Amino acid sequence: MEYRFSDKLAALKPSAIREIFKSLTDPSIIAFAAGNPAADSFPVAEMAEISDEIYRTMPVKALQYGTTEGYLPLRQAIAARQREKFGIGRLPEDGLGFSDSTIIVSGGNQGIELACKVFCNEGDAVIAEDPSFIGALNAFRSNGAVTLGVPLLADGIDPAALEELLKREKRAKLLYLIPTFQNPAGITSTEENRRKVYALAAKYGIMILEDNPYGELRFAGDDVPTYKSMDTEGIVIYCSSFSKILSSGMRVGYVTAPEEVIQKLVVAKQVEDVHTNMFFQILVHKYMTERDFEGHIAEVRSIYRRKCGIMMDALDRYLPRELTFTRPQGGLFVWCTLPACIDMNEFVKEALARKVAVVPGSAFTPVAGAPCNSVRLSYSTATDDQIVTGARILGEVAEDLMKRA
Ligand SMILES: Cc1ncc(COP(=O)(O)O)c(C=O)c1O
Repeated sequence: MEYRFSDKLAALKPSAIREIFKSLTDPSIIAFAAGNPAADSFPVAEMAEISDEIYRTMPVKALQYGTTEGYLPLRQAIAARQREKFGIGRLPEDGLGFSDSTIIVSGGNQGIELACKVFCNEGDAVIAEDPSFIGALNAFRSNGAVTLGVPLLADGIDPAALEELLKREKRAKLLYLIPTFQNPAGITSTEENRRKVYALAAKYGIMILEDNPYGELRFAGDDVPTYKSMDTEGIVIYCSSFSKILSSGMRVGYVTAPEEVIQKLVVAKQVEDVHTNMFFQILVHKYMTERDFEGHIAEVRSIYRRKCGIMMDALDRYLPRELTFTRPQGGLFVWCTLPACIDMNEFVKEALARKVAVVPGSAFTPVAGAPCNSVRLSYSTATDDQIVTGARILGEVAEDLMKRA
């Protein structure tokens, strides 16, 4: 049979990360490539207790269809917590001419994909930081949107370059940003940068799609206000999830956006999966409201504080000084930039041959084929010893390639 596939997915490259994942079945490989949460960050025993309780006390609720918007007690708990802790979500009484609502989605990635579906026609553009999260870029491309990049600097997306692009790109509908502990770069944009970018979005009439799955994983420095907390115009769609603080396999995320936008997202979600898994929505609600949720998040933070510290020390010690790398204050990722004399693909290949997996930075460029001489490293899943050994091997690979250049 010659399969006659649609054109929709033609622009998607198989994720370079997933390709590397395939090589990770070898337990001797040090996995700096995956973005998975640390295995010891899952509160397994408590989840088992809550699961048992759900089946004993509310089996039908957990096993029956639910509403597309999500399990109401969970929506309410998320909305209340993020309003209180982060100033996210406008109420009708704020008198801004719009109010926000929160719905549950099947992972933050679904929220991102739905936002594109709701706003972008075929050929419309989504502007993203360069580099950006490949899962989101692929979600935009699969909806027929063109992805465009604006350089990500040390303090956030370059506002001057962004304005240039906004002036000439009339089909730009969404500005996709991961302002906190960015994937892949590990950078957190400053408040000043965010205020400039927010003003530009308002001026040029483009929606900000703020993706914040790592925001609660801060282990150093001070919180920076989210775009959503600054939103007085109703131009921010905010996506986050429980993937990195409770469990990624549950697929429970959420979107907070102006009610009018939420209504469209709900229609689009209904077509995709009717609703998010009820059992896990209930489980998350119980965890949030009946267990020490804040204490658990603090523990997860301390896991990454330790792992990141080990990686920073090891990279300082083993990498030749021609290589530079970001120093994240939270999240899971480090962006390591190679000197021009090292070919990035060769570095990735050679590292894998010596059993260290890293992700080629080219996987994260919004415009396919754009030059990139960086790689992404993650400290989340490797053991402490592996982090040190892996950094040493990367240092050796770099030395060898520089000698050969
Ligand atoms: C920047 C970014 N956004 C969204 C997601 C998707 O997360 P979720 O598991 O909530 O779909 C990820 C996952 O790695 C991510 O890195």
